[in-house]
Amino acid sequence: MPCDMLVFGGTGDLALHKLLPALYYLHREHRLPGAMRIIGISRKLLPRENYIKLAERHCRAQIEKKDFDDSTWLSFSERLDYLSMDASQSADFSRLAKILKCNAKHGCIYYLATAPNLFASIASNLARNNLTGTNTRIVIEKPIGHSLESALAINATIGAAFSEEQVFRIDHYLGKETVQNLMALRFANALFEPVWRAAHIDHVQISVNETLGVENRGEYYDHAGAIRDMLQNHLLQLLCLVAMEAPVRFDADAVRNEKVKILQALRPISGIDVKDKTVRGQYAAGNVGGHNAPAYYLEKDVDNDSDTETFVAIEVEIDNWRWAGVPFYLRTGKRLAKKTSEIIIQFKPVPHSLFSDSQANHLLIRLQPEERISLELMAKTPGKGMHLEPVKLDINLAQAFQDNRRWEAYERLLLDVIENDSTLFMRRDEVEAAWQWVDPILKGWEQHYQRPRPYAAGSNGPEQAHSLLEKHNRAWHE
Ligand code: BG6
Repeated sequence: MPCDMLVFGGTGDLALHKLLPALYYLHREHRLPGAMRIIGISRKLLPRENYIKLAERHCRAQIEKKDFDDSTWLSFSERLDYLSMDASQSADFSRLAKILKCNAKHGCIYYLATAPNLFASIASNLARNNLTGTNTRIVIEKPIGHSLESALAINATIGAAFSEEQVFRIDHYLGKETVQNLMALRFANALFEPVWRAAHIDHVQISVNETLGVENRGEYYDHAGAIRDMLQNHLLQLLCLVAMEAPVRFDADAVRNEKVKILQALRPISGIDVKDKTVRGQYAAGNVGGHNAPAYYLEKDVDNDSDTETFVAIEVEIDNWRWAGVPFYLRTGKRLAKKTSEIIIQFKPVPHSLFSDSQANHLLIRLQPEERISLELMAKTPGKGMHLEPVKLDINLAQAFQDNRRWEAYERLLLDVIENDSTLFMRRDEVEAAWQWVDPILKGWEQHYQRPRPYAAGSNGPEQAHSLLEKHNRAWHE
């Protein structure tokens, strides 16, 4: 069905750096509906031509040179339009209603690339102006709330205006190729299933390490911290994909039913347990990749006394039959030594070792910087004697599929919204179950005043994050 996409927050970073470049690629590959208009919305007074110039400048900077050409840009820009309105003012929505063609044959997608405090007023103003018919969809970005209570409130307001099938809650990690590959690895290969369980797995590590600091997002980040910004959503979603049972079908409800069961099985961490199971950190000054970086509390828009965590590590247990007794170690942080996102499945050692230098196998699934799946096995070194060393069965996914262009997460996700496929989006109960588990940790930190431990920018995080594993004779995979 033809549809238009309205981007609230149309002059913001997300729209200019991610959404418009992704839509350009989709247009270039003839995947957008023929008559689709893309309407940027913000309070700024801008003539359409100036919005197009602004969009062009950012798209040129984001899109690879070889993929940007003037004639494609010209045809893409014909889709672009701009509307200046105040998304908190009900009167402005009746102006919007006049320019929209929303009807039974023409759909509308509302993308809320705005601050979350506008979600509720946009959703209810759209409803008041009869702009939420069954041919419309709404896309919202994280953070969906700041706590369970605020997430419930946002979901309730959105839910009063739109039915659940119309709501697309984006977690851009689910649009990443290797994240989807996790499902292919687990459910399209018979090989791993028999060993994908407590009897054979010692523990799992999920690390999302960044070298960037808070950049220009101090104001938002200082109220969020690493647990709300990354762990409540991206890392828990990765955990769900590693731990869930095979869905009966590859469709939105079947996949999300299995993910939500994992979130509900996470063992609560509350009260004094936070001291044992969680580590908070905050970066101090240091050197990242040859550049001096300031301490977090000196960053722009950050409180000088801030005790927001820029690093978090947690030992998580899943109370179900498959995973009982297998810890999942999650960690994420800013201003660390290297940018890597990876999952390690650490298998148990062989039951009876014949060789003194044998080590347990592990499977590495790297999401970034390169997409790689690598299984470490033990092999005999050539020559006399039985000396073993680990060797890798290594797949570089970019090389394996050299002829296919790698899609950015937002391309895949925007196309799914257009095609009305919500498999890779978070359902209401998933978001709420994730908050239900995170909330007691936040409360425990407050009750027991767990201040973040300092770590030097450019390091591997605070010492205590290492002790979290060392006390069980384990170590982070660096
Ligand atoms: C965002 C967070 O959701 O994900 C950012 O708000 C973080 O703080 C980013 O930097 C990381 O995404 P990626 O795709 O670069 O790993």
